[in-house]
Amino acid sequence: MTEEIKIIGVVGAGQMGSGIALLAAARGIVVWLHDTDPNALARSRKYDAGSDALVHLHCTSKLEDLHSADVIIEAIVESEDVKRKLFSELDKIAKASCILASNTSSISITRLASATNRPQQVIGMHFMNPPPIMRLVEIVRGADTSDASFSATKSLAERFGKTVICSQDYPGFIVNRILMPMINEAFYTLYTGVASKEDIDIGMKLGTNHPMGPLELADFIGLDVCLSIMKILHGGLGDGRYAPCPLLVQYVDAGRLGRKRGIGVYNYHKAVKETSL
Ligand code: NAI
Repeated sequence: MTEEIKIIGVVGAGQMGSGIALLAAARGIVVWLHDTDPNALARSRKYDAGSDALVHLHCTSKLEDLHSADVIIEAIVESEDVKRKLFSELDKIAKASCILASNTSSISITRLASATNRPQQVIGMHFMNPPPIMRLVEIVRGADTSDASFSATKSLAERFGKTVICSQDYPGFIVNRILMPMINEAFYTLYTGVASKEDIDIGMKLGTNHPMGPLELADFIGLDVCLSIMKILHGGLGDGRYAPCPLLVQYVDAGRLGRKRGIGVYNYHKAVKETSL
């Protein structure tokens, strides 16, 4: 089936969508990349993926241009309402055989699928950031995802050079289900005064061979993203052990969102003295 995949659509030309589009284009797959923001489309063409890749990449502000795609990968804002609306539109535009995949980190694939009339062809295709570099794709099977859709998506991910893991559709899937509680626990360790942020990170780097400490990693991911996934785990699994750490909540309330804001657990504004904890 995968050899029949000649054209893919990507919706959302942000951090993830641009990377996914270039990854596919670099493998000679024709890509139609759509975004409602023309600036995002313009930025995505500036990434240096080699001129061969750019030949296969078509940017469009019209969603209908994705009608010929064999697979459409959605990578827009992480909002269930906005994604459901898009899936319902894609269901009308896409050809009958087209698989609709979502790169969501935390939203239920089953609920996205229920916005369409093709739930057997809706699947999670969760790339890691940045998509051209990270080797994993986590494929998420919704309640009605068919075996055929799963194997076509798996083969496509392998064609991108990725290793695939398969998760059922439960909160956090595999990677975030394990990673986010670890990050949350690191916040609790800091919050309760067990250790300094540096010692927590050094402990996990040198003690468990992680390339980044959990607090550093949280700053890299974005503390708002970590908090929103912890809320989904807490709500979806209904267990107090997933309650977000009050310190994580307070940092987000204060706008300390991590590297993207220049301050999170650590202060990245070199000239400014670091806030004490
Ligand atoms: P981003 O904010 O960089 O890009 C989102 C893009 O979607 C923007 O360019 C925006 O203009 C566009 N957009 C929003 N609504 C749209 C609509 N209705 N139609 C067309 N385009 C629309 O976001 P990012 O980081 O690329 O994330 C995208 C998705 O990937 C989210 O679901 C996120 O949870 C998931 N994800 C993000 C990771 C990350 O580390 N950033 C890692 C893995 C998954």
